[in-house]
Amino acid sequence: MTENLDNIKKQFYEELNSVNSYAELERVRVAYLGKKGLVTEQLKNLRYLTPEEKKTAGMMVNSLKDEIEQAIISYQGTLKEKEYRKEIEGAERYDFTIPTNRELGTLHPITIVQRRIEEIFMTMGFIIEDGLEIQTEYNNFEAVNTPKDHPARDMQDTYYLENGQLLKTHTSAAQNTIMRKYGAPKKGEHLKVLFPGRCFRNENVDASHENTFFQLEGMMIGDDISIANLIYFMKVLLTEVFERDVKIRLRPGFFPFVEPGFELDINCAICGGKGCPTCKNSGWLELLPCGMIHPNVLRMGGIDPEKYTGFAFGLGLTRLAMMKYNIKDIRLFNSGNLKQLKQFTR
Ligand code: DAH
Repeated sequence: MTENLDNIKKQFYEELNSVNSYAELERVRVAYLGKKGLVTEQLKNLRYLTPEEKKTAGMMVNSLKDEIEQAIISYQGTLKEKEYRKEIEGAERYDFTIPTNRELGTLHPITIVQRRIEEIFMTMGFIIEDGLEIQTEYNNFEAVNTPKDHPARDMQDTYYLENGQLLKTHTSAAQNTIMRKYGAPKKGEHLKVLFPGRCFRNENVDASHENTFFQLEGMMIGDDISIANLIYFMKVLLTEVFERDVKIRLRPGFFPFVEPGFELDINCAICGGKGCPTCKNSGWLELLPCGMIHPNVLRMGGIDPEKYTGFAFGLGLTRLAMMKYNIKDIRLFNSGNLKQLKQFTR
């Protein structure tokens, strides 16, 4: 008898597990618990036993009956899930929001590079700030230590509005606002900010000059910042962006808002250093001007230069994208030439 019940149980579970619909489940239920079902038969057979045997055997058959009943009830839940899954995986699935006959867009190469750099710096604790594109002359020049009549203004001619404001020539224009917004960092902390943005200059447009381009500026201020910190962050940046070892060259450079100031150049990936129009035949591309923030700039930003130092860098984002994607002509970026622009995906 026990053996018989074991076999019924085994057979039941085998059948149950292959059930895929409510109709099949009902068929299995009838086959075991129906009037002529296997378990019902066993119950009927009890009458041939002695009262003693009946007691134990009855308990066993009844407990199998209960078990099978329970299993069938809980399998209804499994079925519901199976049907639901079939529904969402099935061929009859539509997304009415997908436009037809229309290609999906891609990110602009500048956006891709910008986001990548933002990610890198955010992991190093930098916050991202946005700067205005229309700026006051004060923010763009005076506040970064470039007073009226300073010769450095010559290189940054731009478009002036009738109200005296201008289209910003560099992301440095946001330095003062950011320093004032956050103030000097607390003891043991640093002010670490990254601020990318669109810049404008009155340029004669050619393969490497545009009137509208992107920069990405960074600043780190604290009571213990030195050139060593600057070099470290620049190295991390370039290694991550190019995903390879790039050759770099550091040489003194003048910018009114830093002292000392540097030009960090990277070898031209387009000509491999031999010289081409993009690198003005020098084999090097000026990519990362940087330096220690000038005391006047800190002071104008409301930060005491006797107590704090900091570094700043102004990365040519457009130029960096040219290097990374081997784009020979800067004019592609603003060309709206989707056929070419959509080639860049990461
Ligand atoms: N603003 C400069 C330019 O557009 C770039 C620059 C140089 C930014 C040095 C900096 C810096 O923050 O430290 O030419």
